[in-house]
Amino acid sequence: MSRHPAYRPRRLRRTEALRRLVRETRLAAADLVQPLFVVPGRGVERPVDAMPGVKQLSVDRAAEECRRLVDLGVSAVLLFGLPERKDAGGTAALDPEGVVPRALEAIRKAAPELLLITDVCLCAYTDHGHCGVLRDGAVDNDPTLAVLAETALTHARAGADMVAPSDMMDGRVGAIRRALDGAGFTELPIMSYAAKYASAFYGPFREAAESAPAFGDRRGYQMDPANAEEALREVALDIEEGADVVMVKPALPCLDVIRRVKDRFGWPVAAYQVSGEYAMVKAAAARGWLDEAAVVAESLTAIRRAGADVIITYFARDVARGLGR
Ligand code: PBG
Repeated sequence: MSRHPAYRPRRLRRTEALRRLVRETRLAAADLVQPLFVVPGRGVERPVDAMPGVKQLSVDRAAEECRRLVDLGVSAVLLFGLPERKDAGGTAALDPEGVVPRALEAIRKAAPELLLITDVCLCAYTDHGHCGVLRDGAVDNDPTLAVLAETALTHARAGADMVAPSDMMDGRVGAIRRALDGAGFTELPIMSYAAKYASAFYGPFREAAESAPAFGDRRGYQMDPANAEEALREVALDIEEGADVVMVKPALPCLDVIRRVKDRFGWPVAAYQVSGEYAMVKAAAARGWLDEAAVVAESLTAIRRAGADVIITYFARDVARGLGR
């Protein structure tokens, strides 16, 4: 008689058909959001050095790219705009003829089925590169709220399907919700970057969005990576203020936070696999040190397994291509 216990876990690992049958976590193109960096001009496709495969695109090129993304089954894009001019107040973010409003209009025409999410922040629009307006060399929370709310309204009026504030000011979700409701956009959802850490993994993004702070860093408003309890307080606040989807960022360094947020709140959770996570995989793969497709699939599966419903990832297009529809 076998001395093995009746349960032999390997029985269900013998063939791919068995493994597929009992798989707990699945990746689908529909769960992925592709970030896009939109720049002024026409016919512009400017590669981002530290993010091989990612390009800054002018509005016309972004619209073409979105058509391809829809055809691959990607559900949504997250739009970042780079303005023509920057100033201390980030006023270009409020321009109804700005790059994001124009992109919304063009993409809507080219890819009507695509969900258009806009990043709401000032760091790409301010000449000092911080996420709000300054007073005495630091970001001044409350005056920034009005500018963020107006930015969100500008996106809403131009046809955004969802706005995603990433600035980490206190009270911004409530300010944006009230502004949207006051203008009749009561049905427009907010995806808040709720637990956003001051992370070294954002380095390559700041090249893509040309948004590196001219002095200092973002630790005065983004979270300390050492804290998880605080992330739960941040998420609780954003939900109270009206967030429809709460985001944890970065993703792989924060799997524990994703899980706790999902378990505690049961809210739709998004995770942002950020530029540095992307760059690490690309760099190792370029040297032949890692199998890119396998590492990407495993990482994204881990993020889903941790509790993320939605993943924002620069790999969305590649993964969708591999997954089929
Ligand atoms: C804007 C913003 C940042 C990212 C998303 N929105 C940069 C930052 O906070 O410095 C980072 C995304 C990435 O690294 O891929 N505030």
